[in-house]
Amino acid sequence: MRRLTGPRASALYFPPMNASYPALQDEDPLGIYTRGAGRASEWWRVSPSGRAHMYRIEHGQGEDDKVDIDTEIDLDNLEAKLLKWRREGFVSEAQRADEARAAQAGGTFSAALQQAVRAAREAGAAQAEPQSSTPTVRIGSVELPRGKPNALVPRVNAAYLFTGRGDDIVQDIVENRRVMLIGHTGSGKTSFIEQVAARADYGVLRANMNGQTTIGDFVGFWTVKGGETIWVDGILPVAMREGYWLIIDELDFAEPSILAVLTAVLEPNGRLLLKERGNEIVEPHPSFRLFATANAAGAMSAYRHLYQGANLLNEAFLDRWRVYLFDYLSLEEETEVLLRTLPVLTRPLAQTLAAIAADCRAAFAREDLASAFSTRRLIDWAELMLRTGDVERAAGPAIYAKVSADEAALIRSIIRHHVIFDA
Ligand SMILES: Nc1ncnc2c1ncn2[C@@H]1O[C@H](COP(=O)(O)OP(=O)(O)O)[C@@H](O)[C@H]1O
Ligand SMILES: [Mg+2]
Repeated sequence: MRRLTGPRASALYFPPMNASYPALQDEDPLGIYTRGAGRASEWWRVSPSGRAHMYRIEHGQGEDDKVDIDTEIDLDNLEAKLLKWRREGFVSEAQRADEARAAQAGGTFSAALQQAVRAAREAGAAQAEPQSSTPTVRIGSVELPRGKPNALVPRVNAAYLFTGRGDDIVQDIVENRRVMLIGHTGSGKTSFIEQVAARADYGVLRANMNGQTTIGDFVGFWTVKGGETIWVDGILPVAMREGYWLIIDELDFAEPSILAVLTAVLEPNGRLLLKERGNEIVEPHPSFRLFATANAAGAMSAYRHLYQGANLLNEAFLDRWRVYLFDYLSLEEETEVLLRTLPVLTRPLAQTLAAIAADCRAAFAREDLASAFSTRRLIDWAELMLRTGDVERAAGPAIYAKVSADEAALIRSIIRHHVIFDA
């Protein structure tokens, strides 16, 4: 015998007319089902019958309690009735109560939001349709239109691991938003953008602000060549005109004059005014995208002491970007990246190395170590280990020589905790 038990839950979900209906076994059918309001209202009541395996169903209309149908049916018939009532728009009291509770508990906002999200998606889908002939490449769960192969397209790193954190960023790229990635050095900010570009065929230019990048390098300058005075475009107008992706690395080290120039370009389709060239206007190529990475901006400001010379980017400036915080890869992810990069490693070996990196980062977070342990450093150390066959010897150039003697000693003890050195 089938029993009608289980949670009534929001059991009575009403699918569209021609949908295939879910089985009813798990729903409690007892109760009142209503439709309409006031005099136009109608109800069905389901209650246990005196007879085994039978149900009593009653029907009434309007606001009085007068019953005009009162009969007994078996389970199969009841199931057929429930389906019919759903199609006709009857809703169980239990469901109405659930909905009311959800609305009271702030459900109104989330329900309204979900509705807006659906509408936005439908509008987006309708808009995307006419361009369906443009070839796309799928990254994570997002379809990105393909660019054109050119000399500046980065090489694909087959070992690169796209984690869930990438989906929103790729969608921002599709929508031509300005994206800033913040996080510790070596957490994968630059390589993320490069690897998206590599897979979708976009050329990438990089400008590092923690160095000698001048406003002239960035915007352009006049120079004399063969007796003639000529204008040389800087990296920004080149990227804008040619439709390259421009990564401004370590933006929190940029000169104020560079930040000022950038501000105008930050609007989607923002144009660049070359004052030095008689106010020439540079229109952005449709493929042009602008990215920045920063170590100590925004949510990373707490680490400013670790990145000496980093400027605080002000809020109005930050508000022109979508800012994503990049954490280091998790232990599992980093193990995966090690195995993909160096397939000769065994999994236990890769796990041990990833665990050492994780411990060093924990020491860094406690401020016992001043240097963050990047994925780049870990891969380099592992490569050298495979060449030398010696954990300590490999750690010299890959790790120890880059930090103070005290820090090297601490890292050595962390490594020793995981690995038994020979001799
Ligand atoms: N998700 C990842 N998959 C594979 N390798 C990664 C990943 N994230 C980081 N790496 C490795 O770490 C290195 C440093 O990353 P990078 O993008 O230069 O860091 P950042 O720009 O944050 O300083 C990369 O060259 C790459 O080898
Ligand atoms: Mg970088």
